[in-house]
Amino acid sequence: MKVGPILAASLVVGAGAVWPTSPAEEYVFFLTGDSQGYLAPCGCSDPMVGGVKRRADAVRRLGVPHRNVILENSALVKTSNRQDEIKLETLAQLHRELGGTAMNLGLAESLPGIGIANSMASLSGRRLTSLSVDPGKTLDIPSTIVKGPFVIGGVSLQPTSIAANLGVQPRELKEAVGILVREAQSKKLTPVLMLDGDRSAARSLAASFPSLGLIQYRSNGHPPKVAERVGKTVLATCGDGGKALVRLVWKAGKFQSYVPIDLDPGYKDSPEAAKIYRTYLQRVTQEELLDALPRRNTEKYLGTDACIKCHAEAGKVWKASKHAIALKTLQIQGHDRDPDCVGCHVVGLESVFGYRSLKETPDLGAVGCESCHGPGEAHGMDPKSKPMAKIGADACMSCHRAENSPKFDFPTYWAKIRHK
Ligand code: HEC
Ligand code: HEC
Ligand code: HEC
Ligand code: HEC
Repeated sequence: MKVGPILAASLVVGAGAVWPTSPAEEYVFFLTGDSQGYLAPCGCSDPMVGGVKRRADAVRRLGVPHRNVILENSALVKTSNRQDEIKLETLAQLHRELGGTAMNLGLAESLPGIGIANSMASLSGRRLTSLSVDPGKTLDIPSTIVKGPFVIGGVSLQPTSIAANLGVQPRELKEAVGILVREAQSKKLTPVLMLDGDRSAARSLAASFPSLGLIQYRSNGHPPKVAERVGKTVLATCGDGGKALVRLVWKAGKFQSYVPIDLDPGYKDSPEAAKIYRTYLQRVTQEELLDALPRRNTEKYLGTDACIKCHAEAGKVWKASKHAIALKTLQIQGHDRDPDCVGCHVVGLESVFGYRSLKETPDLGAVGCESCHGPGEAHGMDPKSKPMAKIGADACMSCHRAENSPKFDFPTYWAKIRHK
């Protein structure tokens, strides 16, 4: 048989499933998702990495419009409060603006319920999809999405929870993947799977469904430097926190040119994405989410100016420090009413007596004396009989966390603000 060796050879070299596509057909895949609520660059340190504005710039620079296949795979937020709902809707809008292909509706996206899911579906231009549930009549999403020679589906390891959150019927994992693979077979397309699940689940699905061309799974940290294959199936992940993208090229019927891309400051803010992002911040501000945060009872705060009246030396050091401008830093970026940010950039946001707004509590609108020393009204009234508690390096750690201040080291940082 003449055809034998040729087929065998192409199977050896071929990464993806070898379907009869024209060799001229080339597609650029971008894998994104698992942003865990980080629409802005994750963390505060320099250089900041990630964020939706840079992602859009990277896709514009490295993609080929109309030949892009952009997959956004679940876990877009971490919790399910009102701000997360606004984030999900914003990410759906951004997906559409990016020219996205498919978004996987996973567990995190299902938590706010069917209203937000349908809103995401419409804002994304019907790019939200899931095979883990039967959408029935209430959930308005397609089961799969076809683009070029691909049919794309999304599944989760928790179909029962997703279905319960949305009030629809679940589909067991292998049944769901089976639907994708059969549709691909009948239409002679390459099946591509977004998986709200980890690498070991991806490996086992690749073994059970060898015709899958690509499985995008979820992982922590940065994407691996090289692509992984199980049989002919390529396994890839973009890591979490929205810090990186993965780019792959489909050429001559197979996946190649795998490159992880860190969204570092080399990528600029896309003006289109920045516009949608500004609207997001406006919604967060207008809905007064900062005012709705829970607060607990504490001792009363005095305010930094009042402390400085008696502690002039400490005041001088403080005024020269970045702590004194911490809220201004957020104002410049439009994040000064953003519950994701303000807590570490003011005094006592968690307290009923703490920061509320620059108008109501101007003296608490920075990282002030009492951010570290704790509430000091009683001490200010009667310094001799009400001494402040002793504090040390522990006082820094609630804000200088690894994620927000990776270079933090007490001796070095303390040297910059020493005031005793
Ligand atoms: C009315 C003046 C006054 C005000 C206002 C005041 N302090 Fe003091 N503070 C003092 C005096 C006086 C001492 C020294 C007390 C002593 O030696 O017993 C002191 C001591 C301290 C100490 C050292 C405690 C120790 O045991 O060594 C700290 C820390 C401190 N103050 C922080 C603050 C902070 C923070 C504020 C604002 C919330 C503040 N103070 C407001 C007068 C004041
Ligand atoms: C867990 C506390 C925490 C949260 C939450 C937080 N920050 Fe910060 N932020 C810090 C700390 C600490 C620094 C100083 C880091 C350093 O210099 O090591 C900082 C610094 C910054 C800086 C200055 C960076 C530079 O290089 O000069 C910006 C800008 C900033 N934060 C913005 C934000 C924004 C926007 C948010 C919300 C999306 C946010 N922060 C949320 C703690 C926080
Ligand atoms: C970023 C955190 C931070 C801020 C802001 C800060 N302090 Fe302190 N302060 C400390 C720490 C930590 C110590 C103790 C250092 C040590 O013992 O090594 C200290 C020590 C002091 C002392 C000396 C206490 C002693 O034992 O001798 C005084 C007084 C004081 N601070 C007052 C102030 C005042 C007033 C302000 C505001 C103008 C202020 N601090 C702002 C963290 C802070
Ligand atoms: C309430 C949160 C908070 C606490 C507590 C806190 N910081 Fe900060 N710190 C910040 C923020 C926010 C910034 C960045 C401010 C900006 O650039 O606008 C910052 C910046 C700094 C900087 C400037 C870094 C630079 O690159 O110039 C130093 C130094 C610093 N902090 C030291 C400390 C030390 C030491 C402690 C503990 C004694 C401490 N901080 C406690 C929030 C905090």
